[in-house]
Amino acid sequence: MPGAGKQPPELVGRTHDLELMDRMIARTKLGLLDRGIVYSGLRGMGKTVLLLKLNGMATRQGMVTVQVEANGDAAAEYDELLHEMSLSIMRVRKTDVRERLSSVFSHIGSVNLDFVLGSAKIELNGSAEEQRAVRASSYKLELLIEGLAESLKASGLGLFLFVDEFQDMSSEVMMTLITVQHKMGQRNLPFYIIGAGLPNLPGVLTKARSYAERLFEYRSIGRLDDAAVADGFQKPARELGYAFDDQALSRLIDLSNGYPYFIQAYGKAAWDASDSNPITVGAVEKGEPVARADLDQGLYVSRWQRATPLGREYLAAMAAIGDTCTSAQVANHMGRSVSDLSSIRFSLIELGLIYSPERGQIAFTVPGMDEFIRRVMPAETQSYDGRG
Ligand SMILES: Nc1ncnc2c1ncn2[C@@H]1O[C@H](COP(=O)(O)OP(=O)(O)OP(=O)(O)O)[C@@H](O)[C@H]1O
Ligand SMILES: [Mg+2]
Repeated sequence: MPGAGKQPPELVGRTHDLELMDRMIARTKLGLLDRGIVYSGLRGMGKTVLLLKLNGMATRQGMVTVQVEANGDAAAEYDELLHEMSLSIMRVRKTDVRERLSSVFSHIGSVNLDFVLGSAKIELNGSAEEQRAVRASSYKLELLIEGLAESLKASGLGLFLFVDEFQDMSSEVMMTLITVQHKMGQRNLPFYIIGAGLPNLPGVLTKARSYAERLFEYRSIGRLDDAAVADGFQKPARELGYAFDDQALSRLIDLSNGYPYFIQAYGKAAWDASDSNPITVGAVEKGEPVARADLDQGLYVSRWQRATPLGREYLAAMAAIGDTCTSAQVANHMGRSVSDLSSIRFSLIELGLIYSPERGQIAFTVPGMDEFIRRVMPAETQSYDGRG
């Protein structure tokens, strides 16, 4: 079954990324520095499972690894970061390393920040107390990362922070993390952010801090090529002593269109529908409607239902125009002005349904959403979920 961040039976087509991580780990052991990595790609492309995989590689090599998911609330994000860091220290296997890191952690917990907070210029919204708490967390996080990285460097280790849904991070925490990444680089300390998010992530990061452009290696996580897709179907089957025949495989490659989420759905449906070995195209065809229904439920329906009636009109106009279009084209299609529609466009972006790949342009965050909308549109006029 497809699922958010669910490890696939076979992670295919990401060899280069795994090699990149291997190299970073090897360099860290030698005391050599690298840039962090930022992955961006559409929904269901495999960002979360890749982060988890890279995290596992680093952890197995003794690195201190922390993984968080951004949610836009600065106080909650700081809490999660500090909490996860303390857990990651406790997980360190080597006693001497763990003890040294724990003492860094307790030291920072006991630092009195009153002096520095008193002089800090506070620019946040919310009550003064909340602002102070957020500010204090920011200092704590910076001190902690610095202390941990210093201590780890002495043992040929490093601190790897994996951040999922990075584009959603509050600008406060994002700015802190980018600044810290920058400072650690200047001081030659092994702290790396490995982030993942939607295709607008590189832009969001450089908007937060212009030098973010130079701090990270930017990689896009996109569709897989046919050979990788074929492996994605064939390898897990072979593991169990089965195989897809050529015709079945070629049909599955067509159906999945290089999209990892689809591989899992069509692969499972064909597997469940088959009673032969090798698995034939008949099983693929039999499973297809099941997979399609799964994909509708898993990817599209809930997103579609999240939109208001006007939002759906907007999405439908986008779907009618094509996968990527301009706001002007949509407005034109709906017979309205761009400024009339700017708030609905904004709310669809907030809901995570669409994003802006470039200024003036908009696109769906989920591959195949346009095709789904064209399919459900006739029913939509009679109200899809009773709200419309
Ligand atoms: N390289 C891969 N090979 C095979 N299957 C994969 C691969 N990457 C991801 N998948 C499968 O695709 C699905 C989506 O993966 P994942 O949740 O990591 O995507 P995502 O990019 O994080 O999506 P979202 O943006 O919605 O969080 C999962 O079922 C996963 O097992
Ligand atoms: Mg994800």
